[in-house]
Amino acid sequence: MNKLSVILLFVLFTFSCKTNQPKGSLSEGNGLFQLFEVEEGREPFYSNKEGVFAKKGMVASAHVVASEVGKEILRKGGNAADASIATFFALAVVHPFAGNLGGGGFAVVRDTQGEAFALDFREKAPLAAHRDMYLDENGDVIKGLSLKGHLASGVPGAVAGMVELYEKMGTMKWADLLQPAIDLAENGVILTEGQARGMNNYKKTFQEVNGEDTPYFIQPDGREWQTGELFIQKDLAESLKRIQSDGAKGFYEGITADLLVKEMQDGGGIISHEDLETYDAVWREPIEKDYKEYNIISMPPSSSGGVALIQLMKLVEPYPLKEWGWNSAKTVQVMIEDERRVYADRAKWMGDQDFVKVPLKELTSTPYLSEIWASYNENKASLSSEIEAGKIPYYESDQTTHFSVVDKDGMAVSITTTLNGAYGSKVVVDGAGFLMNNEMDDFSIKAGVPNMFGLIGNKANEIQPGKRMLSSMTPTIVEKNGDLFLVLGTPGGSTIITSVYQTLLNVVEHGMNMQQAVNALKFHHQWLPDKVFMETNALETQALSDLLSLGYIMEIQNRTLGRMDCIMVHPNGVLEGASDPRGENTSVGF
Ligand code: GLY
Repeated sequence: MNKLSVILLFVLFTFSCKTNQPKGSLSEGNGLFQLFEVEEGREPFYSNKEGVFAKKGMVASAHVVASEVGKEILRKGGNAADASIATFFALAVVHPFAGNLGGGGFAVVRDTQGEAFALDFREKAPLAAHRDMYLDENGDVIKGLSLKGHLASGVPGAVAGMVELYEKMGTMKWADLLQPAIDLAENGVILTEGQARGMNNYKKTFQEVNGEDTPYFIQPDGREWQTGELFIQKDLAESLKRIQSDGAKGFYEGITADLLVKEMQDGGGIISHEDLETYDAVWREPIEKDYKEYNIISMPPSSSGGVALIQLMKLVEPYPLKEWGWNSAKTVQVMIEDERRVYADRAKWMGDQDFVKVPLKELTSTPYLSEIWASYNENKASLSSEIEAGKIPYYESDQTTHFSVVDKDGMAVSITTTLNGAYGSKVVVDGAGFLMNNEMDDFSIKAGVPNMFGLIGNKANEIQPGKRMLSSMTPTIVEKNGDLFLVLGTPGGSTIITSVYQTLLNVVEHGMNMQQAVNALKFHHQWLPDKVFMETNALETQALSDLLSLGYIMEIQNRTLGRMDCIMVHPNGVLEGASDPRGENTSVGF
């Protein structure tokens, strides 16, 4: 049997297995938006989960308790920045998989006047880091060194980021924003099924990195965690209290800094007091571009997310995607081909703009995009081996978590934060109770060698002391005719960009409401490897067969794409919180 027949059979088999879900129709949602028309017999959604609707404020995050914490801050009169800070610290307690004190991230903010801001609190390479630190004497990558253990960590940016956000935009008392997280760490949080499973799955690695008695994440008697059990983190509560009383100094100096540096020294890491004291989060100019009547506002480097999202959107803008239909062969083909070209660009041009000149304007300009699109041929799949990044003539040179917040005055915050892998480097800072990131793997540790997401990098993203590693995080805000419309984002490593891209197109081209756009099945191409990864059922049989006949290598994955947490502002001002059914994500509004 040839490959095509095997895949088609598999698709047909999975269609027939999904008999418990209604076919060919969709629940009504709130009726505010024209419903996306579902082809008879087709099941294009991961689930029929419905959005959460509210008038005054909304928080969409990976954990119901963190969303509740944010909502309570909004209810008490805090703005979206206040609620985001409280949600952030709550996630560090209730969602240790990705929520963090020992990681970093990005925030895109739109204030009540419509002014947009971007905050970069990405981790930095320690000052003692160097380009070849993960290579052996033969110049080969030492497997796992950038992923696990003390050397894998960048200098954390999360606490500096939250302090910076507060100083510019916060309105409530700083101490009050930390208190809910402190209470959760001190009194315990009830483990969800996902949280218990996650900690049990990584038990061996925790022991490998921290020893048999890894605090918190392994039970003292070696028992497995159970759903519904109370998870108490006393040391983390003390670390949070120091941040509560001393702000950034409560983390980057004093007891917490001493504990972190000692942990590094004991475990062979290189983060020093100087690294911590000199860390700074920076405000950057957000990257913005129009798309039809919309304006996309997103994150510039050190994340590649914003530039890539805008390139993707501008490349498909001339095509009648709505007329061609959602995930029809024609629609998917132009999307695959623009993803291929944009990820090739990412590998070549993108890095920390404090260290390398990233040609931001050029990369999203019409002449440049026309140049990289010139090789597109609708009659056959391009080959990634023949696609290179475009030329800029005068140029010199799964784990993360996302949450979205909108307050009653229309201020919006979109934050994506990460430890990189699940539980980061797995290093728990002894006595301080938090996990360290393994973000160093997001550097190009050797030119042309893929990182854990299969992403290739080059000189622009090589390791240098104090440099931020390139990210794919894509916290995004979209305006429609000048008004706040969407707040978007997701975890997912290299698939973040394409998940945000598809969710956005699902709304602006295919007329889905926010939850439908999130629920919709997704696919992903990232230039290399030269394959289209698909969620089961993402393409109907005819579209799949058409694409195969054009030469695309399609792979149905036994994994999901995206864990979106998004908010849509409907024309009547109602907020629709849409949290991804693929995880335990929950929107809470009031
Ligand atoms: N660590 C994943 C990213 O920043 O893209």
